[in-house]
Amino acid sequence: MKIGIVGPGAIGTFLAGVLGKHNEVDLLGRRPLDIETIEISGKTRVETDINYTDSISSLSDKKLIVICTKSFDTKEAVASLSNHLSSKALVLSLQNGLNNEGIISGFVGKERTIGGITNNGVTYMEPGKVKHAGMGKTVIGLYPKGTSEEVEKIVRVFRNAGLETTLSENILVKLWEKAVINSGINPITAVLGIKNGVLIEDRYLTRLLEETVRESAAVAENYVDLDKKKVLDETKEVARQTSENLSSMLQDVKNESRTEVDQINGAIIEKALDKEVSTPVNKVLYKLVKGLENKYL
Ligand SMILES: NC(=O)c1ccc[n+]([C@@H]2O[C@H](COP(=O)([O-])OP(=O)(O)OC[C@H]3O[C@@H](n4cnc5c(N)ncnc54)[C@H](OP(=O)(O)O)[C@@H]3O)[C@@H](O)[C@H]2O)c1
Repeated sequence: MKIGIVGPGAIGTFLAGVLGKHNEVDLLGRRPLDIETIEISGKTRVETDINYTDSISSLSDKKLIVICTKSFDTKEAVASLSNHLSSKALVLSLQNGLNNEGIISGFVGKERTIGGITNNGVTYMEPGKVKHAGMGKTVIGLYPKGTSEEVEKIVRVFRNAGLETTLSENILVKLWEKAVINSGINPITAVLGIKNGVLIEDRYLTRLLEETVRESAAVAENYVDLDKKKVLDETKEVARQTSENLSSMLQDVKNESRTEVDQINGAIIEKALDKEVSTPVNKVLYKLVKGLENKYL
């Protein structure tokens, strides 16, 4: 399959490396970079030659475009791309946050928008080099729900590349579940500078995690059919399984880069306003992370 990957950071480089083995892959960035080969170390060890480009028009013959920018860059990335894509190209997001697929479908239409989540953990080292820190499942589906032969084909292409991938006929639920989980784990660990595992070791923090996740899930319930108890259990399981990891939001704070708090807790607060649900815990966590960001941005 002819695939264009947008965003040469951690996830984009990783996907270009694994998908590039059996597909024609172009990796698109917004500035010139000297990348000819991708090297993945860690749980997956791969070396793949790919084509790196900073020219949007290189993606005009691609069947699948995968958006791998941070979610605060989605609008700019898709706005500049959309006029250059083939009218049949499908656009998949594997980002975190609640608004990516809505933004994408605004430019290319729902019938060409594929939603997705991935639980692979990847760390960026330098241009073309990443470390695969943890294997995880990838789930994709037509946005906001449904499936098609093309989506099934993409699942096969991902599996063929060694990515554990499943198809969801209700991807909106998966996107909300991931946002609810992230709304608890990410800001608390980022503000306190702690590893994920501390959230289930310290009873005060476990209680805060529970309060946040219950509140976010109560918002989610207004949009999708979500099992609140299941998502809370899953959040604790994620904290347990990634106990030694630093959440992405904490990594961003440590690197003094912009976090995705606007697209996670901020988006939940906004969606709650539309349904007149109150979100006091999310609002406190949101302000704390923004205050942290403002110290360095
Ligand atoms: N890393 C993980 O393990 C992981 C796991 C699951 C989900 N995710 C999600 O995946 C998304 C990407 O995360 P990441 O960790 O890969 O972030 P990242 O390392 O910061 O990479 C983002 C990349 O996108 C590039 N970019 C921004 N705007 C662009 C544009 N208009 N055109 C082309 N490239 C552009 C950035 O380039 P510049 O250097 O020029 O800014 C950067 O190289 C996030 O939503 C994240 O939450 C990440």
